[in-house]
Amino acid sequence: MTDDDVPGLAEAAELARRARRVVVLSGAGMSAESGVPTFREAQTGLWERFSSEELATEEAWLENPALVWSWYQWRARLVRGCSPNAGHRAIATWQRRLAQQPDGGAAGSLVIATQNVDDLHERAGAEVKAHLHGSLFDYHCAECGTPAEHDPSEDDPHEQEPADGPPLCTVCGTGRIRPGVVLFGEMLPEEAFAQTSAALEHCDLAVVVGTSALVQPAATLPYVALGAGAAVVEVNPEVTEFSTAATVHVAGNAGTVLPALVDAPNRSSSV
Ligand code: OAD
Repeated sequence: MTDDDVPGLAEAAELARRARRVVVLSGAGMSAESGVPTFREAQTGLWERFSSEELATEEAWLENPALVWSWYQWRARLVRGCSPNAGHRAIATWQRRLAQQPDGGAAGSLVIATQNVDDLHERAGAEVKAHLHGSLFDYHCAECGTPAEHDPSEDDPHEQEPADGPPLCTVCGTGRIRPGVVLFGEMLPEEAFAQTSAALEHCDLAVVVGTSALVQPAATLPYVALGAGAAVVEVNPEVTEFSTAATVHVAGNAGTVLPALVDAPNRSSSV
């Protein structure tokens, strides 16, 4: 693939080559090529087949914890069966490369803040600073907050709603165990959001990849980078709410565009 094949790629690659402090903001499209369905796309989006009102809200958890539990366990098993794609691997490589000091200069940094509740960035070898919408694999008691262990692969995959509901907390004995995801109506983890905002205020490039830029407050984050004078590259095959504000919109898939961006420094230094 050459830079001319994908609109915006040549300009984005030049920004990536120069950047020392990078923030990657990823959304569901980041994991689409791994086989994890996105939320809002026709036919394939999870929300097309399930209602977010029923399954991912605070009220749903209170009214029908068994249904919410089984849906998140289904998603956890689905993610366990997926592998990181070339885009996840490229970001992990870029993070390692920036943290090194290639020619005696100061080390750079790449901060990852994701809206995704999967663990595909980590399984590609990257360190994630912020899971803005939590994680499928961090469990805790909904009553007393004690962290809990659960292995979704041990559940009966055919059981739609466990008759007894989600497991009971072994510490308080009355609360139900829930996944550490942010449900609609709940606050985002404060520290994760603050750390992401701080990184964006001090970056020279933000890369926004695979998000429809519709869900607040995550959708405000790219504007923090723009407000601080940084360039913002959006990687998305579709135009989003954010596209006209982006410094560059690269109209392509994460698994193709991100490796090309990360290769940019090598290409340039060999000229
Ligand atoms: P969406 O499903 O809203 O948007 C996915 C975006 O990814 C779309 O803009 C697609 O065009 C783009 N896309 C699809 N395939 C791609 C690919 N291969 N490479 C790059 N981009 C691609 O997902 P999010 O914006 O992440 O929240 O959704 C935000 C939040 O809404 C989620 O975190 C979740 C959901 O409700 C909670 O559950 C709290």
